Amino acid sequence: MTDQLPRPRSVRRRLALATAAVAAAGIAAVSALVFTSPAQAATTLGASAAESGRYFGAAVAGNRLSEAGYANTLGTEFNSVVAENAMKWDATEPNPGQFNFSGGDQIVSWAQARGMAVRGHTLVWHAQQPGWVEGLTGNNLRNAMVNHITGVANHYEGDVFAWDVVNEAFEWDGSRRQSNLQQQLGNGWIEEAFRAADAADPNARLCYNDYGTDGINAKSTAIYNMVRDFQSRGVPIDCVGFQTHVSAGDNLSSYQSNLQRFAELGVDVEITELDVGGSGSGQAATYETVVNACMAVSRCTGITVWGVTDKYSWRDDDPLLFDDNYQKKQAYTAVLNALNEGGGTC
Ligand code: XIL
Repeated sequence: MTDQLPRPRSVRRRLALATAAVAAAGIAAVSALVFTSPAQAATTLGASAAESGRYFGAAVAGNRLSEAGYANTLGTEFNSVVAENAMKWDATEPNPGQFNFSGGDQIVSWAQARGMAVRGHTLVWHAQQPGWVEGLTGNNLRNAMVNHITGVANHYEGDVFAWDVVNEAFEWDGSRRQSNLQQQLGNGWIEEAFRAADAADPNARLCYNDYGTDGINAKSTAIYNMVRDFQSRGVPIDCVGFQTHVSAGDNLSSYQSNLQRFAELGVDVEITELDVGGSGSGQAATYETVVNACMAVSRCTGITVWGVTDKYSWRDDDPLLFDDNYQKKQAYTAVLNALNEGGGTC
């Protein structure tokens, strides 16, 4: 599928991602990327995704890294990480202009020591704001937002290959969420956030990220229209993240075509927070549908699951690939097979 719009920024950033993916995947994956002759089925999620130039990541809580089962599973199976909470506004700027990067830095160093890539999540969101932000109005909030983006994106420049610049700004019906950002700053705030992120880290890929966008619907169409508008006006945006918090048996019949229509706008697409409530074959089948969709869309550059183990999931319906004892679930096998059998390179 050809892209319809010029995308010099994206091309530059895709090269950066390819480098990061190769570095993360290590020597074995480099040969897999270079040689097209009979690929051997890889035996871990990360190595398997790397065979098509993709990453397979997990959301990480730094305080779990001292648990052997957690660290071993994360380090063995994945080639990318994202901080589950440690890079959010409340964690990184607890007081105005006073940044605290300790939690995020811990995760970055752990990942870098193992050659893993790091996604950044998230610069601006209506939730998990520090209390001092919630009370700001007008230009005070605008300045705080830009200052926050600048401080965090500058600090992690060169460490993260992508940022979720703005998270969850739309409602189900496609209208803007009436957050403090929307109400105080007006419609232009998302664009302002992307411009600030681009100024702070010109090489990171800049994503808009949301949930409930698991098919062609009013919400995903509103985001699609925003991306198209950004592209036409040269607002810097490189990628769209599809959180994909779903449940076994959810109707995902337009999931792939939804990814594809965004890709055709000239942005990359990423599955950013995948988890599937359920168990057994139903859960496995839904995971398989999502992975197959990403593999079928050449601009789907990677998949992140929202946690390593059911034991520490934010949900209580066992939505992840490893159980409480770090045993591989049926869903794990379905995902690994889908990655190994998957279509073209990204
Ligand atoms: C969640 C974390 O998993 C929880 O630990 C935290 O209490 C709340 O946030 N969408 C997002 C993520 O973009 O940041 C959220 O993460 C899950 C929903």
